[in-house]
Amino acid sequence: MDRREFLSRLIKIFFTGVAVVSGLIALIFAYPARIRKRKTLFIPVLDELDIPRRGVKTVNFSYKRGEQLISTRAFIVQHKGRLFALSPVCSHLGCLVNWHRKKGQFLCPCHGGKYDIEGNVIAGPPPRPLTRLPMKLDKGKLYLGIKV
Ligand code: FES
Repeated sequence: MDRREFLSRLIKIFFTGVAVVSGLIALIFAYPARIRKRKTLFIPVLDELDIPRRGVKTVNFSYKRGEQLISTRAFIVQHKGRLFALSPVCSHLGCLVNWHRKKGQFLCPCHGGKYDIEGNVIAGPPPRPLTRLPMKLDKGKLYLGIKV
């Protein structure tokens, strides 16, 4: 093998390697394992008659993710004629926020994050609003959609 042939092979190997690594990175970003495997599980959290006519109601519930039993909560909100559900997970670093009825705000105990009744950030470091959870009414029950 002469020098020219050696360099030609070396360049081919290099670009083949770059193409393979780029393809793998693209696959990882296009189909992250967490998204591929997770599905939405609808969990009954409240009787339809207990849906708040105005304001915020905290609901506590549990569900199974694999073998793990997870207990958590969510907020059912009726505001300006709209019904929606908010996740309690702060968008900053994931602490659980609490509803403060007198202030009319969700408060994060960790770094002072504050959200309005619609989950919009009004103070502190959170970069995004609280996540709205999928919700459905069926046979007198309110269900929340949780990614499992
Ligand atoms: S985790 Fe909520 S403000 Fe930091």
